Amino acid sequence: MDDLRDKYLTAIADAGDEAALETLRVQAVGKKGEISLKMRELGKMTPEERQVMGPKLNALKDEINSALSAKKQGLADAALDERLRGEWLDVTLPARSRRSGTIHPVSQVSEEVTAIFADMGFAVAEGPQVESDWHNFDALNIPGHHPARAEMDTFYMHRDTGDTRPPHVLRTHTSPVQIRSMELQGAPLRVICPGRVYRADYDQTHTPMFHQVEGLAVDKDISMANLKWVLEEFVKAYFEVDGVDLRFRASHFPFTEPSAEVDIRCSWEGGTLKVGEGDDWLEILGSGMVHPKVLMAGNIDPAAWQGFAFGMGIDRIAMLKYGIPDLRAFFDSDLRWLRHYGFSALDVPTLRGGLSR
Ligand code: PHE
Repeated sequence: MDDLRDKYLTAIADAGDEAALETLRVQAVGKKGEISLKMRELGKMTPEERQVMGPKLNALKDEINSALSAKKQGLADAALDERLRGEWLDVTLPARSRRSGTIHPVSQVSEEVTAIFADMGFAVAEGPQVESDWHNFDALNIPGHHPARAEMDTFYMHRDTGDTRPPHVLRTHTSPVQIRSMELQGAPLRVICPGRVYRADYDQTHTPMFHQVEGLAVDKDISMANLKWVLEEFVKAYFEVDGVDLRFRASHFPFTEPSAEVDIRCSWEGGTLKVGEGDDWLEILGSGMVHPKVLMAGNIDPAAWQGFAFGMGIDRIAMLKYGIPDLRAFFDSDLRWLRHYGFSALDVPTLRGGLSR
């Protein structure tokens, strides 16, 4: 009995894995195991022998069973330790910046512009990029023969032969969203409309697809003075400067009357643009009082309501603020460019937290 105990306890202690342990269990206390067979022999013994051997065999069986389960637990613990060591990860290591994506300057600037105008009570409105000829032109007081149609280098959509309706266009500006907003919401109204626009043009400052943001405010007693204040507030906030001179230059757009193009005071000293100082002027947007015909096209009575509108290039003001020299690179998807000019995804532009910091 002592030999049996020694044999199995040593073998159990030496077992290297659960499979070896299971083999030992079968050999010792399985149905046909050595100890089980010994127990069967109890029947052939005299009652006196049995009284001595019975408890001894039972005790041995218990001892081996508990040695087996203790060893089993030990092996499981060791396996878990091994796994934890192998799967260990230092979560305090900095992320690999090579792999983190960035926010495109167009997205960044759209967010900045939206934050500024939201603070002045402007909601964001959207319209389709494939636009009806009527919304893109006629409703904006640009009739069929108007030279502005030719100037805009419009992309026209295809119509089946025999279909005489005017073809849809890729919208050439965000101004059709003025009409859609008026149709949808009526007056009073305060919206900005950021989005993609299309013109057949390609050089350092023009790409066939680019971005504009439109602004439209319709109310009683709206004047050029309101337009001027809103744009001054915008330019200060956007360029993150305290004061900036704006120059309203008389201009012409079919959909506004009077119309003004707006320049900001700037300097190009040392080759870098500084907004708010110097003797140069830089055109940044077109604007004016909404033409009565445009209000009517949007189902708003021009005898009761007035409005101002403006439109500017998002890519253009992104180039100016962040010193990006070539517009074409915006849409090349060159990773080196995106890493250089992109913004951290976690720095969401807000007026409280700072737009670009
Ligand atoms: N839609 C004009 C453009 O694309 C800009 C503009 C918008 C001008 C609103 C005046 C008012 O050039």
